[in-house]
Amino acid sequence: MASYPSRVKIIDVGPRDGLQNEKQPVPAAVKVELVHRLQAAGLQEIEVTSFVSPKWVPQMADNAEVLHGIRRQPGVRYSVLTPNMKGLEAALAAPRAEWPDEIVVFGAASEAFSQKNINCSIAESIERFAPVVEAARAQGIAVRGAMSCTVGCPYEGEIAPEKVGYLAGLMKGIGVERVDVADTIGVGTPIKVQRAIEATQAHFGIDQISGHFHDTYGQALSNTLAALGMGVWNFQSSVAGLGGCPYAKGATGNVATEDVVYLLQGMGIATGVDLDALIDAGMYISEALGREPHSRVSKAIRVKRAG
Ligand code: HMG
Ligand code: MG
Repeated sequence: MASYPSRVKIIDVGPRDGLQNEKQPVPAAVKVELVHRLQAAGLQEIEVTSFVSPKWVPQMADNAEVLHGIRRQPGVRYSVLTPNMKGLEAALAAPRAEWPDEIVVFGAASEAFSQKNINCSIAESIERFAPVVEAARAQGIAVRGAMSCTVGCPYEGEIAPEKVGYLAGLMKGIGVERVDVADTIGVGTPIKVQRAIEATQAHFGIDQISGHFHDTYGQALSNTLAALGMGVWNFQSSVAGLGGCPYAKGATGNVATEDVVYLLQGMGIATGVDLDALIDAGMYISEALGREPHSRVSKAIRVKRAG
């Protein structure tokens, strides 16, 4: 039998990945309240917003209002996406107590996706990220690197593990401290995801690798289990399964945090998350968006609650 980690750290990316693709404007106060409910439910890492161009992703235009509106809870790590120096400067344009604890640069294993998502080649993206990483680390801010399309790309199809290893090496080379192996469009299956993680391990230890699985084809929990079996213990997921990437047409949200927590609880793996409070956080944001949570666990437990 595979041996699994005894604890897992979940990064809830709902306020960022989950909401960035919403067509209807979501008020900053609702996003802030979602962060408050997630931290009250025991999430220790939350990706709260992104400092990207508002022309590219209008939903994240309120990034500063959200970041600075959060009532910080000690022990919680707040991260934001910063694609360039402009983004980093905007994220740090506040007193230090309101800075993000971690910034995320985001690249892709696929050239076509890099162009569509951040308007430059992979090589150019690394040139852009290098000063961002250096400046953040000089200020004592942690740096994560998101690697998109590590198993499949909406424009190039299947992605070879060598391309993932290449990107991971570039990220490592500029000082990125840990990386997300992302299945952006949710096409991955366990062995493919394991190959992408294996390729990443050429440059990062297993403790520095997180799994970021979208659930378009319903494989994200299986992929989570496959990554767990390799010793991965950091995962990103989205409360209520919110989300999608505006530059990955048809791709749905991240795996629902509720479903991941239920899986881990059933395996006796500690997360520190209170599933009931998390389900309520998922209901809060789903009601604000006028829809049902995309979480089977949420639905099942609410049916049970109703008696
Ligand atoms: P560009 O057009 O090449 O940038 O976009 P530019 O430097 O030429 O600037 C163009 C305009 O944008 C200028 O304004 C800049 O000031 C402004 P103008 O002079 O025209 O008025 N600008 C900015 N404004 C605010 N904040 C900034 C910023 N930078 C430039 N940081 C850029 C390049 C990277 C900015 C653009 O392509 C962009 O914002 N892309 C973001 C796309 C995005 O957010 N995608 C979703 C997140 S990634 C994701 O979801 C995947 C992930 O979940 C993992 C996975 O699942 O795969 C992480
Ligand atoms: Mg994503």
